Amino acid sequence: MTVESMPLQQPATSYNGTAKWLHWIVVPGVFMLLLGGPVFHFMPEAEKVTRAASGHAGLGTLILILMLVRLYWRSRYPVAAPVMPRWQARLSLLVHRVLYACVLLQPIFGILMAMTSPYDVVAFGLFNYSALMAADETWHQVFHICHRINGALLALAVVLHIAAVIYHQLIMRDRLLNRMLPQSSGVKDQ
Ligand code: HEM
Ligand code: HEM
Repeated sequence: MTVESMPLQQPATSYNGTAKWLHWIVVPGVFMLLLGGPVFHFMPEAEKVTRAASGHAGLGTLILILMLVRLYWRSRYPVAAPVMPRWQARLSLLVHRVLYACVLLQPIFGILMAMTSPYDVVAFGLFNYSALMAADETWHQVFHICHRINGALLALAVVLHIAAVIYHQLIMRDRLLNRMLPQSSGVKDQ
């Protein structure tokens, strides 16, 4: 193993470019799916089969892949927490963990729901999840409820996350947001 390919021993003091890209690519996708998902309630089943479910499932699958890459990147390039009161550091870690867990679990529940679905869910019109196994109304309902509850928890965590960033920007004025912005190292790190 060359020195360049060895993982870092000490956590970096700010997010690197790839980590920032992975964060910001996922954000609009998650917003679109969280806001678009509930629209399915108002659609007849015949319409769910078509492009709406197809785009939703495709984008959700892409987000799952990006999140797996992101987790790998996070484990390889850990980032030190910014200096802040202990209770805030703990809360921040908790919310970040909930965000990671929910964004990963949401497409997994979606895929399981699609696999057991009575109607076809074809990601981007290319990959038919529903053809992988026979429809099962009971499991479809179970995974639908998991998808719904996890989606609500994800939405709550996103609101808390954004509220925390606003609090740091406007009240603490410690430039926390800069840690996630291009070409910036942000607040002083531990
Ligand atoms: C980060 C990724 C995802 C997010 C944030 C998300 C979000 C949502 C939300 C909020 C709903 C409305 C749930 C309800 O109240 O009933 C929904 C519905 C749905 N989602 Fe997802 N989803 C994601 C990924 C996926 C994936 C990967 C699939 C399938 C491969 C999928 C398939 C569906 C389907 C079929 C529905 C409609 C269920 C129905 O009404 O019959 N989702 N999604
Ligand atoms: C779908 C919405 C979002 C999700 C799922 C999300 C997810 C995350 C996660 C998991 C982290 C922790 C990264 C790590 O340590 O590996 C993070 C960090 C961060 N996010 Fe977000 N985020 C979202 C939206 C936003 C928005 C809208 C902003 C800006 C207003 C933002 C600003 C930040 C900042 C500044 C950090 C770094 C915090 C720190 O250094 O402690 N995020 N985000």
